Amino acid sequence: MGIDFKRLAKEFGTPLYVYDLDYMKKQYRELKSAFEGAKSLVCYAVKANSNLSVINTFANEGSGADCVSIGEVKRALLAGIKPYKIIFSGVGKSDSEIKEALELKILMINVESEEELKRVEAVAKELGIEARISIRVNPNVDPKTHPYISTGLHENKFGVDINMAKRMYIYAKNSQNLDPVGIHFHIGSQLTQLEPIAEAAEIIADLVRSLHAINVDIKFFDVGGGLGVVYDDEVLINTQEYANAIKRAIKGLDLTIVCEPGRFLVANGGYLVTKVLYEKRNGNKRFTIVDAAMNDLLRPSLYKAYHKIELLDKKEGEESKTDIVGPICESGDFLAKDINMPPLSSGDLLLVHSAGAYGFTMASNYNTRPRACEVGCEEGECRVIRKRESFEDLIANERLYLKA
Ligand SMILES: Cc1ncc(COP(=O)(O)O)c(C=O)c1O
Repeated sequence: MGIDFKRLAKEFGTPLYVYDLDYMKKQYRELKSAFEGAKSLVCYAVKANSNLSVINTFANEGSGADCVSIGEVKRALLAGIKPYKIIFSGVGKSDSEIKEALELKILMINVESEEELKRVEAVAKELGIEARISIRVNPNVDPKTHPYISTGLHENKFGVDINMAKRMYIYAKNSQNLDPVGIHFHIGSQLTQLEPIAEAAEIIADLVRSLHAINVDIKFFDVGGGLGVVYDDEVLINTQEYANAIKRAIKGLDLTIVCEPGRFLVANGGYLVTKVLYEKRNGNKRFTIVDAAMNDLLRPSLYKAYHKIELLDKKEGEESKTDIVGPICESGDFLAKDINMPPLSSGDLLLVHSAGAYGFTMASNYNTRPRACEVGCEEGECRVIRKRESFEDLIANERLYLKA
């Protein structure tokens, strides 16, 4: 890695997101090569980190993109992803988003309900075209992950059940304006066990066999994203075993495997550098107040997610437990709880690890806090890839109607 975080903090200020783009490329290549021997398309899940330079890093590797809004589709295109490698997913696409996606000639729209299928058909009819679609099937498999990032059970809002999917495929096959080319499932995120994905892949591959038997010509087998990463001491799914399980599931079928990794590609290539502002005690409880907050990195507050935090300077003194908290007026505003740190003082720098996925993309302006600067490092050079927001940026769209 060899990134000089202290120098970057000095030059660009804190809080600061730093991305190791070389690491991200390495992750892409590892996954892509695991699928060797099969037709495959890796579509980076833009929601994980949608900075244009990050997307462009994957575009240069030949990646496609998995997008969940027309904004993400436009980002992907702007960053150099080819339209025929873009998938548009999500449970709530508006008519105008569907229209724009069809006009942009993306690979396929991933449909998540019967009503949506009819909407896509109607919009395609208006445009006088055939819309390439896939259907997100909910295989009702427990992914054994955090409930907030579990998506493949019937109790989750995503996709349709198998019987409904079959009806929708038959409807689409008979429609003049729909071309059902793909099938999709995504059972959850931060998956660390192979069995649930392998089981879901088998279930969906069987469905493809029955669809092929009735001449529904599915070509793309989209297994979603979800590969887990190490935040703490997780034991991960081996990428080759993951790819092999999918190849096994579709044995004998002429399909292109599509996968949509987000976290796997970017999480451990990202860091959040933050500066200590104060230390305080409330009774026996120690708090370290830093300049990054839940508006910069929401995952600890939202999911009680663990992020390793490293002190960038060696400090003398006995370690004791402290909560690393931000300046936001919420008790839920913390980056870590009860971690060991030596006594810290104003100006000390902390490095929050594994912050490349669902970090900046979930950032907000809560408490009128400008979003952090983002820096991308590649082959020994670090550049600003998104400048720090200013107060003026924050209020640019507001209008003040002063009463006399
Ligand atoms: C449909 C779909 N594909 C891909 C992803 C990316 O997931 P991950 O970052 O866990 O790989 C998500 C995440 O929510 C998703 O919903």
